[in-house]
Amino acid sequence: MTHPTPAVSDRIHSLSPEELPAYVYDLTALQEHVAGVRAALPDRVELYYAAKANPEPEILAALLPYVDGYEVSSGGELAHVGKAVPGRPLAFGGPGKTPAEVIRALELGVERFHVESVYELHMLADLAARHADDRRIAVLPRFNLPVGDGSLDSVSLAMGGRPTPFGLDPDQADEVVRLLTDGTYPQLELRGVHAHLASGLEAAEQLAVATSIVTWSVELAARHGVTLHEIVVGGGMAVDYAEPERRFDWAAYGAGLGRLADAHPGLTLRIEPGRALTAYCGWYATEVLDVKHSHGEEFAVVRGGTHHLRTPATKGHDQPCTVLPTDAPWPHPWPRSAAQGDKATLTGQLCTPKDLLARDVPAPGLRAGDRVAFSLCGAYAWNISHHDFLMHPRPGFHFLGGAGEDS
Ligand SMILES: Cc1ncc(COP(=O)(O)O)c(C=O)c1O
Repeated sequence: MTHPTPAVSDRIHSLSPEELPAYVYDLTALQEHVAGVRAALPDRVELYYAAKANPEPEILAALLPYVDGYEVSSGGELAHVGKAVPGRPLAFGGPGKTPAEVIRALELGVERFHVESVYELHMLADLAARHADDRRIAVLPRFNLPVGDGSLDSVSLAMGGRPTPFGLDPDQADEVVRLLTDGTYPQLELRGVHAHLASGLEAAEQLAVATSIVTWSVELAARHGVTLHEIVVGGGMAVDYAEPERRFDWAAYGAGLGRLADAHPGLTLRIEPGRALTAYCGWYATEVLDVKHSHGEEFAVVRGGTHHLRTPATKGHDQPCTVLPTDAPWPHPWPRSAAQGDKATLTGQLCTPKDLLARDVPAPGLRAGDRVAFSLCGAYAWNISHHDFLMHPRPGFHFLGGAGEDS
């Protein structure tokens, strides 16, 4: 799925220069991929999609048959996902929830709250007493657990296992369990424990982290003589932008989670990946506007840039891409610019040297008018970008396949 699929490639070639740049999503490819992920997971492991990775309604809807629910991390995501896939289970997480967001979540009947602090627990209890009728609210406190075996040492994006603003400190675990089980807050039910410690972990590291989370949680429950029903071990499955054909080993991870589930009968395990589900189904397609030489290097300036596709800037990588040369005759009276060498750095239209999409791309003979399809653009791409900087036009959006194919 790294090179554009035939449907995506046809669509890119069919667009006029003015219709570029464009995000093109292959929903059939997405569904095949996520069906494979689901099949690799044991029955007792639930799969929630972390909507923050890509909340396009077409993506959320395409995932419907394969996921058990959606993880939302703001009032905005809550309203949006609730509308896009009505009636599906939602888990509401994220630090810094406001009272207004919590009230809205209670009114909408959100199934689970991932509580991030003692302050938030007090707020939720008070608001639940006033806004949740007689319903008991399922709470999964989020803990920032220590992971002592070095599993998180190499990751660039860690939300746990070190000082961060995410989740509760393990030192607060006993207090939180007491508050949730000693009758202080009868409107709240301790349903389980939530943890999301890092993004970018391979299967073996994920399993080590999941095992630590489950072991720690089960010991906590045993200390208090209470039963936990659900443990969320987070998302963060690795996507390799440097080797885009590599995939997270879902088979090994699923088998390991199966062993973990077997060791804890009665416990539902839940994962909430975002990136590793949707990254592969999206391409950012554009055309080369100009090719130029600068101090011995060649640069190809493409329509668009990191204001549409911020991923390479935020992660500091080269976005994988495929050059799609065009056979169309050059339509202008002025000369066409072309690369002299074998490699070019692809940059966008912004007036900043940070607008780098991919460095040293093998592109012999690259010419103005050629098209480029950046892959792995289905997660943390458009929705994390600073769209309005320099006021260039927004890209088009195309959703191919799935139930809602556009034409
Ligand atoms: C609480 C939580 N769950 C799940 C995710 C999804 O992570 P990823 O997209 O790396 O799988 C995130 C990402 O930041 C998160 O904060």
